[in-house]
Amino acid sequence: MKKIIGFNASPTKAGVLETAMTKVLKSTGYEFELISLAKKEIKYCLGCVGCAKNNKCILRDDMDELLEKFMEADAVVFGGITRHNGANAIMQNFMERFFPLYHRKILSTGKPVAIVSGGLYSAQEAYKDMSGFVNGFKMNEVGSLIVGGNASCYKCGFGEVCPQSAHIAINGRVPITKDTFYKFENDSECVKKAVELGKKIADTLKN
Ligand SMILES: Cc1cc2nc3c(=O)[nH]c(=O)nc-3n(C[C@H](O)[C@H](O)[C@H](O)COP(=O)(O)O)c2cc1C
Repeated sequence: MKKIIGFNASPTKAGVLETAMTKVLKSTGYEFELISLAKKEIKYCLGCVGCAKNNKCILRDDMDELLEKFMEADAVVFGGITRHNGANAIMQNFMERFFPLYHRKILSTGKPVAIVSGGLYSAQEAYKDMSGFVNGFKMNEVGSLIVGGNASCYKCGFGEVCPQSAHIAINGRVPITKDTFYKFENDSECVKKAVELGKKIADTLKN
């Protein structure tokens, strides 16, 4: 039985990214596992190039298991959120640690990959970072999905008055209510695209 692995780089439990990735993965109809990278120990790449001789990192942490799962997966979904107009640090750190697969032979070549990117106003930026990585590592980008996000200012307690408020910048001087929050499941257009992306991954695995 074929298996799909999702790597979720958002630290938010049951947040937008997790909900959207689950929809994509379920829509494939295949067995899947969604891994929360925030719960894993992933040390920083030291750039020592120790991995060049045997395709194995000198560091011992959860990345051993994560790279094994990546290699064994029939398809993969990478999910990241946008922070400071780029892919968030958990995703960046994770991507850097793929270097062991990139010596002489690129071991990730041809792996079918879908990208899910979240953000409040610039989700495209995390997508660009992830897509650059996926294509640089010669994976097969089968499709992508851009989802919305929520400002920290919606829940910090100062969002209605703070001069730095993203809430005021986006929504104006109106009260923050439960309707202010972006919910993937209420965004029917996006849900439809998530289902389509899942089916696209499934089609790739059938061919
Ligand atoms: C420190 C920080 C920086 C952020 N920077 C951006 C940004 O540059 N662009 C953007 O669209 N959203 C930005 N956001 C909002 C997040 O992308 C948003 O919280 C996330 O997409 C929500 O997904 P989640 O529910 O899965 O956590 C930022 C959030 C934080 C905490």
